[in-house]
Amino acid sequence: MQVFNEINALKHALSIERKDGKKIGFVPTMGFFHDGHMSLMKEAINETDCVVVSIFVNPTQFGPGEDFESYPRNMERDLKLCEELGVHYVFTPEVSEMYPAGYSTFVECEGGITHTLCGASRPGHFKGVTSVVNKLFNIVEPDLAFFGQKDAQQVAVLDKMVRDLNMNLKIIPCPIMRENDGLAMSSRNVYLNAIERKEALVLSESLKIASSLIQDGERNSNKIIEQMKAHIMTASSAVIDYVQIVENDNLSDIDTVVGDVLFAVAVRIGKTRLIDNMRMTI
Ligand code: PAJ
Repeated sequence: MQVFNEINALKHALSIERKDGKKIGFVPTMGFFHDGHMSLMKEAINETDCVVVSIFVNPTQFGPGEDFESYPRNMERDLKLCEELGVHYVFTPEVSEMYPAGYSTFVECEGGITHTLCGASRPGHFKGVTSVVNKLFNIVEPDLAFFGQKDAQQVAVLDKMVRDLNMNLKIIPCPIMRENDGLAMSSRNVYLNAIERKEALVLSESLKIASSLIQDGERNSNKIIEQMKAHIMTASSAVIDYVQIVENDNLSDIDTVVGDVLFAVAVRIGKTRLIDNMRMTI
């Protein structure tokens, strides 16, 4: 495994892999790995010949007052996990390598898809994501790029960016990895204290409630959302950011739950903002 922190050195190494006919798989991350990250890497190793993982806590996708400074980091452990799994290249740039003085170009996906769900409470977040991922795509030039369905809106926005800008790669969405009790894995779960960790289960439980209501024949979005919210509010540390049922491809709200549908929740548990979702075809 080779680790690069310079863009040009990585580009050069990958150009040789490409000349050798290797299919390049890319897993962009902000590090502090859990099994969700590792599942993307495993999928990349299965599907491609040369796997590149980036570890970069991207400042432009954090808003003022968000957790950029305190975001958990453990480079040594992350590199060991990549090595053990058989990743070929890890890209670990400094902020100054990605955004040198005078940097001023951003890529923004406009419209409802970036303003709903997480976009509503995190203005500028998706502009930061599309900009950094665009830059990473230009550096790595992957054939396939692997993203977790845990961040369903991120997948939808990036997929749209790839289509809108005719980028020469395919986004591969991968399933949500969960703890045994159902909590979706997240680097931010380490912020939770013991009580909050238990209360955080209301997110995945609310999705199970939605699923059983659908099985019982309920199709009215508002009624389902009401019951999901009521369950989430049983946790004393929970403050709901959103509970929405949307069309999976354009993320617009629906009144009647039919088609390819995404149930999405964002809840603050104490100071920690957690998200979860469930995709269903009805
Ligand atoms: P990060 O939060 O580190 O996540 C990296 C990748 O891991 C994303 O594709 C995310 O969806 C996926 N992931 C996180 N938790 C997961 C889980 N429980 N199951 C499956 N996949 C999971 O997402 C980002 O970083 C950044 O926005 C990034 C795309 C790297 C741009 O900076």
